Parts: sequence; structure tokens; C-alpha cells
Amino acid sequence: MCGIVGMIGQVGTKEILLKGLEKLEYRGYDSAGIALVGENVRTFKEVGRIQALRDIVPADAEGTIGIGHTRWATHGVPSVPNAHPHQSTTGRFTLVHNGVIENDEQLKATLDVPFLSETDTEVIVQLMEKHFVELGDVEAAFRKTLSDLHGSYAIAMIDSEDQERLYIGKNKSPLLVGLGDGTFNVVASDAMAMLQVTDQYLELHDGEIVILTREAATIKTLDGEVLERAPYTAEIDASDIEKGTYAHYMLKEMDEQPAVIRNIIQHYQNENGDIELTEGVRELVSEADRIYIVACGTSYNAGLVGKDILERIAGIPTEVHVSSEFGYNMPLLSEHPLFVFLSQSGETADSRAVLVEVKKRGYKALTMTNVPGSTLSREANETMLLHAGPEIAVASTKAYTAQIAVLAILAYDIARATGKELPFDLMPELARVATIMDSIMAQKELFEDLAERYLKTTPNTFFIGRGLDASVCLEGALKVKEISYIQAEGYPGGELKHGSIALIEDGTPVIALISQPKTNLNIRGNVKEVVARGANACIISMQGVEHENDDFILPHVEPLLAPLINVLPVQLMAYYAALARGCDVDKPRNLAKSVTVE
Ligand code: F6R
Repeated sequence: MCGIVGMIGQVGTKEILLKGLEKLEYRGYDSAGIALVGENVRTFKEVGRIQALRDIVPADAEGTIGIGHTRWATHGVPSVPNAHPHQSTTGRFTLVHNGVIENDEQLKATLDVPFLSETDTEVIVQLMEKHFVELGDVEAAFRKTLSDLHGSYAIAMIDSEDQERLYIGKNKSPLLVGLGDGTFNVVASDAMAMLQVTDQYLELHDGEIVILTREAATIKTLDGEVLERAPYTAEIDASDIEKGTYAHYMLKEMDEQPAVIRNIIQHYQNENGDIELTEGVRELVSEADRIYIVACGTSYNAGLVGKDILERIAGIPTEVHVSSEFGYNMPLLSEHPLFVFLSQSGETADSRAVLVEVKKRGYKALTMTNVPGSTLSREANETMLLHAGPEIAVASTKAYTAQIAVLAILAYDIARATGKELPFDLMPELARVATIMDSIMAQKELFEDLAERYLKTTPNTFFIGRGLDASVCLEGALKVKEISYIQAEGYPGGELKHGSIALIEDGTPVIALISQPKTNLNIRGNVKEVVARGANACIISMQGVEHENDDFILPHVEPLLAPLINVLPVQLMAYYAALARGCDVDKPRNLAKSVTVE
């Protein structure tokens, strides 16, 4: 999704901005641009990759103040006029914006200037110019402009007649100020973009602006009141966000899953080997009579697995909801609900909208996220971190397994506190899961073969399973859809015959996941049903429920934790299918990593 970088202070600003934009590439975008203030403002914009932008920025373009942007189209097609930065008619003000301005049409109607783009952003910069003419003061005009906006925004603005200040504003879209060594300061929508120059960041809250000079960052409210805030150190190792020798981030991140599980064990276990959660988390869950997991996409799919684990282990009724639906169609709630927000990025706008509503109603929330200090983490009552390390590939993999492991830890802790009988010892079993994951990842080429056989040329496919396997099938189908563009359905095996089996024809690949003893015979029956109609069935099973001719037999783990294991083959098959079909694995079309618009 859209990304912002900005800098005030140094010769070499252009290169730092371009490198910053490259670090944001993983978030998904379709066009990019930068503006540099030197003797005058020079703006460069291009559709496509950052390399295309690099190609049009002349070597002599320099400046000591600059802003840059990657755009993921919402208002208007990807094009040079729609790409950011946008400039006011006189050329005095230039800005970049993330988010959605909901009252852009009303504001446009008040302005008598030509609009050169279809975006909702251009109105901001034109309004800025109008208020500046009225008020004669840039900061006052900036504050007035932001007060007129309804919706979400992260904005960085330069004034062509002032080489000493960069103007920043934020509401509901992520934006951070990065502090330099006294000779420069930076701004970015994601700390990763500016880790190249600093690890010291200032968190910004909604409705705040910042006047950034080379030496200082002054945070103010929209009324002009100055706020004090201490910086924090971004704990991201710059090497974590490099691909190293891997061809793709997705492959690297799939490979990291065993290490992530070990990391989680280490973080949530004390020296006696017991699960250790913060008192805050324990208090939150002890008050709850029902858990509402709220999430999107892959995190939602992880939530489905978490629901089963929470209900079976902790005995607490748990519902799982898609954020974009839940916010507007809230179901009847129990007397003491606890909301658990699952989000790799911690910035997903649909989930955040629910959190705002939940807090308005006075309910408590726990966020499980991979990003400390993210919006969902800051705004919830408590956070449990995923400890998965930065996830760069658009297709989420290690965050999925991390979320399931952390949900299982929560379930076990609730069960311990309420004296429930525990079916197995969680932490040693998670350690075994990590070892088994290693062994599966060591056999990648087998899944490459399966992808070649079943998915390389097909226009569609089904993933079928029962119970927990059905939840993993939803994730398998999502992975295949998003990176290899195959029409894929994840289905409970028994449900196919109620309609969708009509889609099975000669050669339709059907990938069956079989790990649950209770439904082994049922799912095998469902496989026979599709094979009888011409399907090309691929069976991935687990020791204990295997048949000799299954395509791959996974080592046995506790059935409740099977999703941690049987998701690996489907992730790998999706990856190799995308490669075989010539797709751009790490940057799939139309998608963004961090979805910061509703
Ligand atoms: C799919 C994927 C998305 C995200 C979804 C939620 O591979 O990555 O479906 O899971 O956009 O994102 P987070 O977890 O950051 O809230």
C-alpha cells in the first residue's frame, strides 16, 4: 500500500529517498515519485517500479529537502498525473499523502482551480494554497487544511520557498518521524524505509502535525499546542529485511518458520519451562466470557484455527470475524467480551476501524501482532507479539504459523488458570513442531514437483479438508490465488456435494489435507467423490491417518497443532506454482502488504 518518505538536511537526500522507496516496495504499489527542493522544486513521477523512477531522475537533480511516495491506486488509475507528489497551482506547495479523504468532492467544489489528477490528494495541496493566501502563514494554513479533511491521512509537505522546514500531518494512517544526528531528520510511513539512516523514531498520534527542521522535530496539535514525546529505538535488525541468498522473500520467510516457533517458545516460557504471559494479558482474559477474534485475510484464517484451539483447550467460546464486516455489522455481544485483534502488520485499517468502535463501547482489546509499536498494538489494552521478524513478502507465511502458536499459548495459559485438564504439554510439542518444520522445508523439491504436476497449467483448483484441515485449506487457496492467480477454493470436504462439486471436471486438481483422525474416513470419502467425477487428487496426509499411496505423508504431531505443519506444503506448492507460471512472487499484482485504507 502507499508509502511515504521524506528528509530534511543532507546532500544525498535524493539517494536516501530512492533507497527508502525501494525498502517500501514490498508493501505493494503501482507508481512512484519524488520531489526535491534545491534552487527550485523538481518533481519526478513514473508508473511501475522504483527502477523506472530512478531512470528518469537526472544525475544533477539534488536538494537538501525532499519527499517521496509509492502509490497503490485507490482514486484513479495508476498514471503519472495520479502519482504523488502533487503540487498546488502556483507550485509553492508540494505534498505526498497516504489514506483516503472522504470529503474530497465537497472540498473540490469550494476551489476554483484546475485539477490535473483524479486523486483525492490533489485537493489537499490546493486547499493548502488557498488557506495560505488567506492566512499568510504556512503552519497556520497547514493546520487549517488538515482540520478541513475528513478521513485518513499521512502527509509530508514541502514549501518551495522555505528550505528549513518539512511539514508533516497524521490521522488514522501510519507515519513516523526518524531522528537524525542533529544535521538531518526524516519521516516515513514505515520505519524500515529509514533504518538506513536512523533507528530513533518518534511515534505520532492522530490529529498531530510535526514541523521538522534539520535539528528538531516539533510535535503540535491541530490547535497549535506543542507536545513533548520521547523517541524510541526501532528494534529491527537491518539484516532481517535483506533477502540474503534467497530468490524471494517468501521463500526466506517460509524457511524461517521453525526459527520463529523456537523464538516464540523462548519469549513465552520462563526458566521452569512454564508459559509466562504478562499480568495485564492474564487479567484481560480472566474477565472474558467470550472471545471475538477480529482479523483479515491470512490472519483471519489463523484466527479460525485459534478458535478451535481456544474452545477445545481453554473451553472459552470463541468467534472469528472478518474486520471489514464486523465493524459495520456487529453481532450480539456477550456480557464480557474480549476482542483479540490478529494482525501481522498491526496497521490494517479495517481492523483498526473495529478497534476504535470497540473502545468507544468501553470494551477491552488484546492485539497479537508482529510489529511492536504498531497502531493496533498501541491502541489495544494489551499486546502479545508474534516475534516472527519482519515479514516482507506480500504473501504472509511465517506470521500465520506464529499467530497459531501464540494463540495456542494463550489457550494453554487460560486453561492452566482455570484448572482445565491439558491434553498434552504445549511447549515441548511446539519444539517438536519446529523440528518437523525443518524436515519438511528440507524436502522443498518434492513440493516443487507436486506444484508442477497439479498447479502449473490449471485455471482452477480446490483445497479440501475437514475440521482444522478445512481452515488450512482456506489459507492454501488464498496463497494460491494471491501469488499464482489460479482461481482456488478452500472447502470443507463434506460441503462440496452441496453445489460446488458441479465445478469438478476431468483433470481439476483437488488438493486434500488429511491430518485429523476423527474425520479421516469422511474426507477420504469426499476425495473418492471428486475422483469419480474426474478430479486429479493430490493427498497430503499425516502419519497416523496415512494411506500408502498418498502424495506426501507428514510426520505426526498432535492433531490440534497439525495446521502448523500441513500449511507448509500448501505454502510451498503456492510458491512453486507461482514460479512455474512466471508470476512475480514477492510483488503479486493488485496487492499490498500493509492494507492501510478501509
Ligand atoms: C495474505 C495476506 C493478507 C493479510 C491481511 C491482513 O497473504 O498477507 O491477507 O493477512 O491483509 O494483514 P495483517 O495481518 O497485517 O492485518
